[in-house]
Amino acid sequence: MRRVFLFILPILIIVSAAFTLFGFFQVRFEEEKLIDDLKRKAKSVAESMELSVQHVLSANDLKNANYLAEKFETRERLQGCVIYDKDGNIIALTKRFGDWKEKDKPYIKDIIANKTPRGELEKFKDYQVYSYILPIVDDAGQFLGMVEVIHDTSYVFARLTELWKRISSTLIILVVVIFIISIFLHRQIFALPVQRLTDWFKHFQKGETDEAHPIREKGDLGKLASEVEQVALSLRVARRTISDEAQARMEKEEIWTEAKLKDLVHAKLGENALFIVSNREPYMHTIDEATGLEQCIRPASGVVTAIHPVLCACGGTWVAHGAGNADKKFVNSKDKLGVPPKDIRYILKRVWLDKEEEDGYYYGFSNEGLWPLCHNTHTRPVFRELDWQAYKKVNQKFADSVLEELPVKHPFVFIQDYHFTLLGKMIKERRPDATIALFWHIPWPTPEAFSICPYRKEILEGMLGCDLIGFHVQNHCNNFLDTANRLLESRVDIEKFSIVRSEKETFVRAFPISVNGHFNQAAKDADIKREIDKIKKEFDLEGKIIGLGVDRIDYTKGIVERVLAIDRFLEKYPQYKKKFVFIQLAAPSRVHIKRYHDLMAEIDELIEKKNWKYSDSGWKPIVYLKRHFSLDEIEPFYKMADLCIVSSLHDGMNLVAKEYVAARKDLSGSLILSQFTGAARELVDAIQVNPYSIEEFADSIQLVLQMPQDEKTKRMEKMRKVISENNVYRWAGNIITELAALKKV
Ligand code: G6P
Repeated sequence: MRRVFLFILPILIIVSAAFTLFGFFQVRFEEEKLIDDLKRKAKSVAESMELSVQHVLSANDLKNANYLAEKFETRERLQGCVIYDKDGNIIALTKRFGDWKEKDKPYIKDIIANKTPRGELEKFKDYQVYSYILPIVDDAGQFLGMVEVIHDTSYVFARLTELWKRISSTLIILVVVIFIISIFLHRQIFALPVQRLTDWFKHFQKGETDEAHPIREKGDLGKLASEVEQVALSLRVARRTISDEAQARMEKEEIWTEAKLKDLVHAKLGENALFIVSNREPYMHTIDEATGLEQCIRPASGVVTAIHPVLCACGGTWVAHGAGNADKKFVNSKDKLGVPPKDIRYILKRVWLDKEEEDGYYYGFSNEGLWPLCHNTHTRPVFRELDWQAYKKVNQKFADSVLEELPVKHPFVFIQDYHFTLLGKMIKERRPDATIALFWHIPWPTPEAFSICPYRKEILEGMLGCDLIGFHVQNHCNNFLDTANRLLESRVDIEKFSIVRSEKETFVRAFPISVNGHFNQAAKDADIKREIDKIKKEFDLEGKIIGLGVDRIDYTKGIVERVLAIDRFLEKYPQYKKKFVFIQLAAPSRVHIKRYHDLMAEIDELIEKKNWKYSDSGWKPIVYLKRHFSLDEIEPFYKMADLCIVSSLHDGMNLVAKEYVAARKDLSGSLILSQFTGAARELVDAIQVNPYSIEEFADSIQLVLQMPQDEKTKRMEKMRKVISENNVYRWAGNIITELAALKKV
């Protein structure tokens, strides 16, 4: 469109300039004509009065003089008439023009002296007039006086203004007509054929059409079309070959790898790229308010940890909330950017939310409502109508943003988590051909617990818009099926593990999420060693037993219980004083919610109190590092910790537990794991604890420290096997296989 404007603009400028010039001359010509006309009229009126005025002045007949002056009152555009005596004094004038007397008339003297007539345009008070003065002489040539005829000229200007208006409106109509014709011609000659060719290209190279390209003409556009045709054909062939090879390779490989997942995606989804939707984005651009420095961080989120390697493997588009304060600076005109920043593998599309939307949808409904509703941690869920409205609005906003991106045929949409319970239904309503999965990264409660939610019905209906719903563990699937069965009019098929409502079937499956099996392969061992030495020096850890916790600061993570257990451990087993240090890496999270804010203060105070209780000659039992840590920064901590504690009170999976195991290539290190995490079902070789039982928890720390190295190694080996077999590629592979089986063709 910009090009069309650039093309039309000079034409419009030239036409407007020519038309304005023409108008200007026409107005000038009209003005001259009207004024000339006026002059002639005034002169002829004055001359027609000459004889009568001569009589009046010769006879000094004032009565007739006044009669003569009033005689013109009714004449059109004639303002008045003035009769002067030989000395230039007014002896009669038209009444309605009475204040003409007050006008200064220096020219009268010249007329008396030269006895020549005078006609001029005059402005006096509100009058715009033409005055014509005729000297009156008797038959003997004796000067008797003068008669002045005054004509109104305002009609001349009214006529000229009217003319300008007519010229301007003709010009506007002309400009609009030229504009419309140009746009129409551009569309017919250029835009439409190019649009048709582009659409054809998109569908042909994906194998969605076999028709020949739509350009029939032979000229330049025809040449371009036949070039495009060649490229489309080669692309189609190449895609087909890749897909066949992928299928063959995939059937051979046992362990799930990035390459195997890539092959599966090609083989199963073909050209239907994957669309991921989550609230949290995988890369967040922020500006540090203190330093003004821009940085790109990877947020602490289980969803990000799991989905990122999947998209790196198979490409696609990830739609997420652009929550970073510098996010807008890094997107293109479609709010997209390629990530990872230095090795682009997939597209991130950012959706913008205003403060009110973020408050209601994210802080309010998602994290003060659904989050505590689904976690068994005795924190009361809060449901506010305004939050629910914002939640619905934001779900619709995301649906619109996703719909904009979907290809014409059979797209695959993979929605993440509790932030988007309504999205599946919203997308399905407009794209029934889309295959949609939702993965629920947190626990699903019992029907009784879920039924306290005032919006339970809409939420379940929204979720059942999806074709597949995944949970981490079978127990959450069972709870979900029970919930749908009890709270909605639906039919649960226990054999197929599906729910049928309004003739739409949704399958429910357990897919335990995982990590990539080899923690952060990119970092070199020597660099990690250097980092470990640095950390040990900084916190005086040399020769100490190191415990580690890595969490977002969340009441579900059992951080308080962990500190109490460390306290009890040191009370019960004082021989570990000055020998044991626990490092807690804690990323502040959802800080605008009071419960989180209070929790941060509670943890600060508790750690401070316990450190004070035990501090001795510079040693303190807990090093509390409260900030965001990148994966690269966490890696040396994982690799140097003798034990890692994951003590969630309730957790969908908990990927920190799996990350720690994946990082321990050296097979040393032990994991203390809460029995209330999803990970506990798979990592049966971890030391499992009930974090509410502080005594048992404290003893488990002692148990780990006492355990022979041999046993620790065996346990770690087994856990690593579980993780490398059930890695995140397998998780994604299973979901994609399931999705592909549902593919709507
Ligand atoms: C959990 C949720 C994720 C979320 C993460 C971090 O793991 O399942 O969806 O991204 O917590 O929380 P945040 O609110 O910071 O995204």
